[in-house]
Amino acid sequence: MLLKAVLILYASFMEIASGAEWCYQSQITCNHTCTGPDTWGHISSQCSGQSQSPINIVTRKMLPDGRLTPFQFIGYQDTFHSILINNGHTVELDLPSSIKIKGGNLAATYKAVQLHLHWGKEGRLGSEHTIDGERFPMEMHIVHIKQEYNSLTQAVTDSTGVAVLGFFFKESPSANKKYDPLINALMNIKQPSTNTTVTGVSLDMFVLPQENMSKYLRYDGSLTTPNCNEAVVWTLFEDTVHLSREQLAAFFQLKFSNGEKMVETYRPVQPVNGRQVYYSNAHVAVVSTVLLMVSTLLSSAFTLDTTG
Ligand SMILES: *[C@@H]1O[C@H](CO)[C@@H](O)[C@H](O)[C@H]1NC(C)=O
Ligand SMILES: *[C@@H]1O[C@H](CO)[C@@H](O)[C@H](O)[C@H]1NC(C)=O
Ligand SMILES: *[C@@H]1O[C@H](CO)[C@@H](O)[C@H](O)[C@H]1NC(C)=O
Ligand SMILES: [Zn+2]
Repeated sequence: MLLKAVLILYASFMEIASGAEWCYQSQITCNHTCTGPDTWGHISSQCSGQSQSPINIVTRKMLPDGRLTPFQFIGYQDTFHSILINNGHTVELDLPSSIKIKGGNLAATYKAVQLHLHWGKEGRLGSEHTIDGERFPMEMHIVHIKQEYNSLTQAVTDSTGVAVLGFFFKESPSANKKYDPLINALMNIKQPSTNTTVTGVSLDMFVLPQENMSKYLRYDGSLTTPNCNEAVVWTLFEDTVHLSREQLAAFFQLKFSNGEKMVETYRPVQPVNGRQVYYSNAHVAVVSTVLLMVSTLLSSAFTLDTTG
């Protein structure tokens, strides 16, 4: 009892001492105290949970799952206009709820809420998930919630309430013109708590070609910012979106709420704690089915031969 009281007192003291507002590791300086990723658990105990995101994915431990069929992307081709916000932690684009996904072994139809990104800084990579320890320059999250819910707040009370599609980026020599409306708009929202309108865009412009989105990884995890709710069915696509160095650098011009450059906006990888990562691979699934049939035929032929 006493120990618990002391621990609670200590935890609340730490919270005051480190500043109640959460921040990324890159924001912690001698001049600025805020609650960095190591102590997000003081803001929300869920950040200290056992199924947190992001994680490092060890590809040799992944298993194929034939149920991970291609998604149906509804409204991804539709043009819309929307608000792009610098929320002091990242840049976020509101999405119309007419945009939906289903299939891909999801339990329901999920509707889009917003997309946002995580990045590094000049010469430093900044994806949240890593693959065999490899980090990518940037990672985009398209956040969807089960159709029956009205908000993300409602959806996170359900352990599969949220479906996030994650895309890794790679640097390429040429610019990706489809990203120009989004990247040009960043110049209007350098300051935190500002917004601008983006017009004439569709999600198709920001994701991969349809045929490249059937290869993906799947695991159960959490939101990667407080309150870190363990309510996310994660999908990470294997193919990457390409942007030029200049396009990636446009994100480094934004400012955090403390006025510093908005850089290294990612949470460190979290313990996997025995969670299994699956991959969709129609090709491998077909090959192994054929192999199984061949070996069944061979063994029955062998049985006939020895007994006959
Ligand atoms: C910290 O504060 C000192 C003195 O006000 C200032 O000179 C310095 O540039 C500040 N450093 C950062 C990283 O803000
Ligand atoms: C966008 O900015 C305007 C002007 O500062 C503000 O009135 C409005 O509430 C903001 N909208 C959102 C969604 O943040
Ligand atoms: C899409 O897949 C094709 C075939 O595997 C590949 O050649 C192409 O580079 C991929 N495109 C992207 C953007 O990854
Ligand atoms: Zn995210």
